[in-house]
Amino acid sequence: MNTVKTVRELRAAVARARGEGKRIAFVPTMGNLHSGHVALITKAAQRADFVVASIFVNPLQFGAGEDLDKYPRTLAADQEKLLQAGCHLLFAPTVEEMYPDGMAGQTRVSVPQLSEGLCGASRPGHFEGVATVVSKLFNMVQPDLAIFGQKDFQQLAVIRALVHDLNMPIQIIGEPTVRAADGLALSSRNGFLSEEQRATAPVVYRTLSTIAEAIKQGERDYPALIDGQIKQLEAAGLRADYLEIRHAVTLRPATPEDRDLVILVASFLGTTRLIDNLHLNLDGHA
Ligand code: PAF
Repeated sequence: MNTVKTVRELRAAVARARGEGKRIAFVPTMGNLHSGHVALITKAAQRADFVVASIFVNPLQFGAGEDLDKYPRTLAADQEKLLQAGCHLLFAPTVEEMYPDGMAGQTRVSVPQLSEGLCGASRPGHFEGVATVVSKLFNMVQPDLAIFGQKDFQQLAVIRALVHDLNMPIQIIGEPTVRAADGLALSSRNGFLSEEQRATAPVVYRTLSTIAEAIKQGERDYPALIDGQIKQLEAAGLRADYLEIRHAVTLRPATPEDRDLVILVASFLGTTRLIDNLHLNLDGHA
């Protein structure tokens, strides 16, 4: 596996692979890779002949007071995991390489509606930062397909929309969330949890599962269901940022008639913000 740091080297390496008739898959990440990322690379290697990953902690998607500075940077360990998982090329640019003219005047990509509410409400500008960097990376790599984790459900919806709306010829694939044995969704931010917080954290997924089970059993009073579960989260020592039932495609608030649902949660355990979701199709479709 080759690691390149400049757009020029990236383009040259991808052009060589293209010249050999290879199908290109791309997995953008912010590094500090765990088994969830490895699953994305493994999937990419099954779907394409040449797998490109990126590691870039994108300042544009972090708000003031968020964890940009303490976000873990673990390049050597990440390179080893990528190599083992079947990645061919790693693009690991500097901030200057990605934003050579600075960020203030950087052209932005914004996806209205889908970016509003949920994480968009508590992290203003976050999805604009994500949509902008993903658009730039897509233009740099020009992959046939790109793979993202479903754990960032709203992010995946935003990326699907931008690719559709900007006519990018890239297939977007969402991969299921990888969980620890106790249900906690794998996340780079789990490393911020103390031992005691880590023991508490599975309550997040248990909450989603409890709501899904209640809906499957016919419960349709969503506000009451949510209120009860927020109280449970708080009793366990978490502070709910949001806990919502939405339509899985449009992300608008779910009505009792909707069949394709997603239950989404963001909650703070100490200062660590954990997000998770559970897709529930009452007609049994994935
Ligand atoms: O999900 C992430 O790690 C990031 O938001 C992404 C898609 C790599 C953009 O910086």
